[in-house]
Amino acid sequence: MIIALCGFMGSGKSTLGRGLASACNCRFIDLDDYIEDKWAMTVSAILAKNGEEWFREQEKECLMEIVDEYKYLSSKEPYTLVLALGGGTVTYAPSAEVVQSNTHCVYLQCPKEVLLERLVKNNSRRPLLAGKSEEEISASIDELMARREKIYIDCAQWIYNTGEKKMGGQLKDFTNKFRLDQKN
Ligand code: S3P
Repeated sequence: MIIALCGFMGSGKSTLGRGLASACNCRFIDLDDYIEDKWAMTVSAILAKNGEEWFREQEKECLMEIVDEYKYLSSKEPYTLVLALGGGTVTYAPSAEVVQSNTHCVYLQCPKEVLLERLVKNNSRRPLLAGKSEEEISASIDELMARREKIYIDCAQWIYNTGEKKMGGQLKDFTNKFRLDQKN
């Protein structure tokens, strides 16, 4: 089974995903990294050069490649792959369909203040937020979240509320909840 993590930028998809994969002894893939490796370009550069529509279609193609590669394994053993999606992956309906039909999806729900703090500190790899002030980032979170949260919730089988815990505590809690020996 493939576990896919969806959620807003900064919600901890990569960090929690990597931790879970390590606890479950399975592979971890970050979809943004996969796209960047495939195109030998950063996500920022891809978006700047080709636009969001093209990026979403490529993101879906990459998602399908990954799912195809792990599908066989997935049917034999649970938790063969933990996949961290991009913040916008499931907002593109064809990608959401791939996620829903082929993975068990967890939505990492994260309080806005935590997202804001993280995204103000680190937005260099996030073209949708790059160069924005704290106030502008705050407004972008509100605007995008208003459009996206329902989509995340609809796509996921489980919601994990990351709460106010620090990342270290979250990682332990998340891993305990979702590691394979406790689910099977
Ligand atoms: C995006 C989130 C990014 C990346 C791209 C678009 C989004 O991924 O895929 O910049 O639309 O929210 P992360 O959530 O891993 O930052």
